[in-house]
Amino acid sequence: MYFILVNNFDLNKNIVITGASRGIGLATVKHLLSTGHRVFGLSRSEMDPELRSFSSKQPGELHWHTTDTELTNVSKAIARVLPDNEQLDGLIHNAGLLINKPFSETSEDDWLMQFEVNVFMVFRWTRGLESLMGNGSHIVHISSMGGVQGSSKFPGLSLYSAAKGAVSIFTESLSTEWVERGIAVNALALGAVQTEMLDEAFPGLQAPVEPKVMGAYIADFCLKGHRLFNGKILQVAMQNPA
Ligand SMILES: NC(=O)c1ccc[n+]([C@@H]2O[C@H](COP(=O)([O-])OP(=O)(O)OC[C@H]3O[C@@H](n4cnc5c(N)ncnc54)[C@H](OP(=O)(O)O)[C@@H]3O)[C@@H](O)[C@H]2O)c1
Repeated sequence: MYFILVNNFDLNKNIVITGASRGIGLATVKHLLSTGHRVFGLSRSEMDPELRSFSSKQPGELHWHTTDTELTNVSKAIARVLPDNEQLDGLIHNAGLLINKPFSETSEDDWLMQFEVNVFMVFRWTRGLESLMGNGSHIVHISSMGGVQGSSKFPGLSLYSAAKGAVSIFTESLSTEWVERGIAVNALALGAVQTEMLDEAFPGLQAPVEPKVMGAYIADFCLKGHRLFNGKILQVAMQNPA
């Protein structure tokens, strides 16, 4: 007689992802939906009809919230959808802004905007959703090779790289604070991926990785990476420079 062991450890997970509307975030959402998870997408914009149609044909479930909604209301809305005794399994901080400008030409507004999106939004959403996380939850920060100490750096990207560097150190720090609660915190420092952001930073550059491939990796890492890593900044890059 044969026994088939089904490991449903990684099925039907509840994952929040910011910057869900395009690029790497959208690709991650699609991968999670196609593999049967409940995804809470956060975006400045309404859900794209193409994504709505895609999602209706997948085994997973998509809930969409715009980021202009009061954070506490989003948190309550997510809590209402979570089945009894379930929590958020993953929170992927993917939303990011890239200001590409020589430092001497930047204004204080640029500094604030860069840190608002890439750093303060991370703090805010983590605090806002903290009550929905617990033992076994995994927070994943989408950082950049530019935010890694000693990596190649590029003119014009000092604000962006500094903000990603702040997220990297925040990853290490928060992981030690929340270890008792069983919440893992890791960062993925991505190399070049072919998205609108890359086009803005490096016009004409052909990246070795498509969003679909990176989205699948991020989704998988969010679901499983906390069993092996905590407080780590993992470099996910094909080349050096990225
Ligand atoms: N592409 C690369 O080569 C690369 C390399 C290293 C790291 N990364 C990181 O990967 C993440 C995704 O980047 P991507 O390449 O997919 O970029 P993208 O195509 O430009 O998408 C960026 C996402 O961030 C959100 N966003 C942008 N500006 C925002 C703002 N002012 N306020 C709130 N949200 C904002 C957008 O979400 P909504 O419009 O839905 O709000 C959008 O979905 C970013 O954190 C980026 O820094 C990318």
